[in-house]
Amino acid sequence: MMPSVCFYVTYGLCLCVGLLCVLFVSCWCSQWRGGFAWDGSNLQFNWHPVLMVSGLLVVYGIAAVIYRVPFTWEQRKYPWKLVHAGLMLLALLLSILGLWAVFDFHRAAEIPDMYSLHSWVGICTVVMFAFQWVLGLAGFLLPCSPPWFRAMLKPVHVCVGGAILILSVTSCISGINEELFFSLNGATGEVYDSLPLEAKFANVLGILIVAFGLIVFAILSRRPWQHPEANESAYPLLSQDCT
Ligand code: HEM
Repeated sequence: MMPSVCFYVTYGLCLCVGLLCVLFVSCWCSQWRGGFAWDGSNLQFNWHPVLMVSGLLVVYGIAAVIYRVPFTWEQRKYPWKLVHAGLMLLALLLSILGLWAVFDFHRAAEIPDMYSLHSWVGICTVVMFAFQWVLGLAGFLLPCSPPWFRAMLKPVHVCVGGAILILSVTSCISGINEELFFSLNGATGEVYDSLPLEAKFANVLGILIVAFGLIVFAILSRRPWQHPEANESAYPLLSQDCT
């Protein structure tokens, strides 16, 4: 297969699996967990998994691979930098809303905050992501940022970006597991180890989340799919082609 055909097949798979993640998490929360509301109840909690999976996993993953799309290579890089930063901002805002949903639910139900491993890993992920976004904005989009800072930041940005993806998958998987233990071994009378349909469905969601993370990693790590930056400035705001 031609490299770009191979890329587009993988990219299409990435988009389909990402869409399935969003559909599965929304379906789980509406069919088995009672749906959505913003009133401090369990229904408010349900926004948490949907917003975290949609924002910090799927939108984040799609934003991370945007420079790999060969179609964008013939165009000026600066507008695609804005698309990358804009999608990342959307991912960050959805994650903050998702955290707000769970913190507000805990406050209304008088449940303590930040006691679980999931919550510790989760908060580290979001804090890292927020720092990464602000530094990325300062380093790559502001014209006043010095070239030495950009050169130093770039490998760190790539490395931390990959780490955030791993942490995001970890947070989602641990959150799904925790919610299944709470809800199936709690009020409903069903138990997780009897593997009811809800558990099977949520386990498949977990597998889809891992698959999405692996596909994004596969796209990011293949050298022939990387942006051919060699012949152009990596920082178009400082060069003429950004005008
Ligand atoms: C990137 C994704 C995620 C991040 C960053 C994240 C982060 C967090 C944080 C920081 C808390 C603590 C809230 C508090 O203490 O008031 C929390 C709670 C919780 N999350 Fe997530 N979460 C993510 C995805 C999910 C998913 C997909 C589920 C699946 C249902 C989930 C289930 C839960 C549950 C049950 C709690 C309440 C119990 C606890 O505090 O651990 N999370 N999450």
